[in-house]
Amino acid sequence: MKVLVIGSGAREHALCRSLSLAPDVTALHCAPGNAGIAEVAELHQVDALDGAAVTALATRLGADLVVVGPEAPLVAGVADAVREAGVPVFGPSKEAAQLEGSKAFAKDVMAAAGVPTARSYVCTTEDEVAEALDAFGAPYVVKDDGLAAGKGVVVTQDIEAARAHAAGCERVVIEEFLDGPEVSLFAITDGRTVVPLQPAQDFKRALDGDEGPNTGGMGAYSPLPWADPKLVDEVLETVLQPTVDEMRRRGTPFSGLLYAGLAITSRGVRVIEFNARFGDPETQVVLARLKTPLAGVLLAAATGTLDDLEPLRWSDDAAVTVVVASHNYPGTPRTGDPITGLDAVAAEDAPHAYVLHAGTRRDGDAIVSAGGRVLSVTATGTDLMQARERAYEAVARIGLEGSQHRTDIAAKAAAGV
Ligand code: AMP
Ligand code: GLY
Repeated sequence: MKVLVIGSGAREHALCRSLSLAPDVTALHCAPGNAGIAEVAELHQVDALDGAAVTALATRLGADLVVVGPEAPLVAGVADAVREAGVPVFGPSKEAAQLEGSKAFAKDVMAAAGVPTARSYVCTTEDEVAEALDAFGAPYVVKDDGLAAGKGVVVTQDIEAARAHAAGCERVVIEEFLDGPEVSLFAITDGRTVVPLQPAQDFKRALDGDEGPNTGGMGAYSPLPWADPKLVDEVLETVLQPTVDEMRRRGTPFSGLLYAGLAITSRGVRVIEFNARFGDPETQVVLARLKTPLAGVLLAAATGTLDDLEPLRWSDDAAVTVVVASHNYPGTPRTGDPITGLDAVAAEDAPHAYVLHAGTRRDGDAIVSAGGRVLSVTATGTDLMQARERAYEAVARIGLEGSQHRTDIAAKAAAGV
């Protein structure tokens, strides 16, 4: 099978790494990719948001499957263009991707499907904002309606900060604060059959102890030893299947990856958000544990044959990933700095720990930073403690001036608290 992956983050590196390990993938291409992906896939230059360009590339390469990684091309309709050309594509249509592209749309689908989520108001004026903030009280949860790379959400005790964020958005969703731990649960679906993956936990805040601003995610781990073993079945029944059924009922079936961001509150599971693609960095740890070859699973979703798939097989290992980010991320990051120690990780830590590239590019012989999240250092072990130790040993070998990473990824879960 010839596979083309669209995207350039650590998620795409994790996807390409998994795809490259299986014998059924005979050729692996990625566009636009990054310096790390270049080691496992052939890179091509393409504007990932341009459906016609992606389709032309897929056709020229004779791709049997196109996997669209990030949300922006999905929301732009890239999967539709590829599908119309008759090439199987893993990723929802433009309309179905609105589950991620518009928080107001997602709320509407959840209401229709009876999916438990935070109570919310959609506001477009200052008066509506004031009324909604008043109705829920602190802590305030204010979300930009559109796509914002994980940075459009402000959760704050400070009414002024809540008002200021709302004032900067055209349309906001203001909602009830959900307490309790967060879980990311991904499901692969062909629009009808839903196959959940293993749950993971992401660390959204920039700083240790869940301080600082929200980011795209600073680290993740899987499995979740503290979670109820029935969680996945419960979420499949109350969230994932009803959402997929509702999308099909509306005539806009959702196929691809449905990402449920959940809060496990004292009153039960609630959906915080949906995404229409694999999460980053959770994908790094989920795929590290998946034993079933990935390509066949994605192709089954793309061709509507998930029902025939054997149950997925998972490793008992634990996996931890730690994101190394540029100076100033999630603000405007500093880029262009050389990254050292990558060879040392490959020599000393592989195969239990490895580096997945996000914002990197090759500059002569050097690999330099080229974005906010630069690397995702991923490790496996017999338990979270060992996976965590291995991940941080590898992080310690990496040099990038001014870089930052959290030191407490999976710490509590590994310690059993
Ligand atoms: P989202 O982009 O909707 O996932 O929001 C980003 C992050 O903001 C989430 O992962 C949560 O940590 C936090 N958040 C979002 N909505 C809520 C809520 N209703 N209550 C508490 N925290 C929230
Ligand atoms: N890790 C959060 C996301 O992918 O949206």
